[in-house]
Amino acid sequence: MTLRFLTSGESHGRGYLTVLEGFPSGLAVSLERLREELARRRRGYGRGARMGLERDVLACWGGLRDGFTTGAPLGFVLENTEWEQWRPVLDPQGVDPEQAEARGVTRPRPGHGDLTGCLKYGHGEARNALERASARSTAAWTVAGTVARILLEGLGVRVRGAVTGLGGVEISPPETEDQWLRARGSELGCPREEDEAPWRRRVDQAREGGQTLGGTFLVSLTGLPPGLGSFAEWDRRLDGRLAGALMAVPGIKGVEVGDGFRLAALEGGQAHDEIFPAPGGFCRRTNRAGGLEGGMTNGEEVLLRCAMKPIPTLGRPLRTLDLRTHEAVEAQVERGDVCAVPSACVVAEALAAWTMACAAAECCGGDRMEELAGRFEELRERGRWER
Ligand SMILES: Cc1cc2nc3c(=O)[nH]c(=O)nc-3n(C[C@H](O)[C@H](O)[C@H](O)COP(=O)(O)O)c2cc1C
Repeated sequence: MTLRFLTSGESHGRGYLTVLEGFPSGLAVSLERLREELARRRRGYGRGARMGLERDVLACWGGLRDGFTTGAPLGFVLENTEWEQWRPVLDPQGVDPEQAEARGVTRPRPGHGDLTGCLKYGHGEARNALERASARSTAAWTVAGTVARILLEGLGVRVRGAVTGLGGVEISPPETEDQWLRARGSELGCPREEDEAPWRRRVDQAREGGQTLGGTFLVSLTGLPPGLGSFAEWDRRLDGRLAGALMAVPGIKGVEVGDGFRLAALEGGQAHDEIFPAPGGFCRRTNRAGGLEGGMTNGEEVLLRCAMKPIPTLGRPLRTLDLRTHEAVEAQVERGDVCAVPSACVVAEALAAWTMACAAAECCGGDRMEELAGRFEELRERGRWER
């Protein structure tokens, strides 16, 4: 069984459609749960004014009945509450030329897809490119990833996230369950209260200077049996698939698995996780590998660290060229975020969940949730020790 999803929609368009295919029947999916993750995606000290204007109006169009999946494709619609204002600019059947011209973006922002999007698709200005390249589409991805997360929860797998750095102010990762929980509820994704004030100051300072910030965050998956993913072909390796999914989040420029870059400087004797006997099986005392060996889960916590670049739309814009006049100008200023790292973390959690749910579905298959869960439990049993 393969899971897949597709989306359609533009940032200021009518809304986003998300169609998910391959989910087994009998999975309880609550729209409230999807809304909860959408609300987390909108969080963050440093988000722009748009977050206050937009609401994620979510509806299910198919594949759910009485709160359970039927086995049919799932369809979700996220309506854009600002659509009427944008209709003259983006109407699929004909725009108002004056308003479309006024909303044209001819000063491409360095660090965004504006310029290359125009060159690639043959547009004279960047409105079409930026409408689809916008990170607003990550709301639709969050819907898909949350359904995957609900499936994983039904299999005993948990996905967590926490921000570990904003604008160069790094903090230590969460160490306790309470700290992970705090990070989940915090608007900064921060595991400890005392670390929030320096981050807020950093965001305020950037905003005052017309600047933007990036940062780092962690995504963790626990409760996984050994053996999801495979070394059998390059594209089945789960470390590559997870890194690819997280790098797909707009602005993410680095993904590290476990101790990642730090391992490069160590000798082999310090770098790997030795295997010890334990009652009824084996155990590890370290997790430098971040839960992945040979392209597969090894039964330990999967730990991924991401680095996000600063937001490209600056209050104090960078130099660029005007696409019509070819004159040197300052880049377009759109209302936007000073920092979106806490939101990017939520999107990354969703895409990590999606990737892991795909691996679980490929490995354990099943048309019904009970079949998938039964086979997943067998995998877990086998992982304890197969003699
Ligand atoms: C949740 C989220 C919100 C974002 N908000 C903005 C924004 O308001 N303005 C902006 O220019 N970029 C924003 N970005 C970042 C851009 O989408 C990203 O830097 C851009 O797509 C280019 O990144 P890429 O080179 O990785 O594609 C946001 C990213 C995420 C994940």
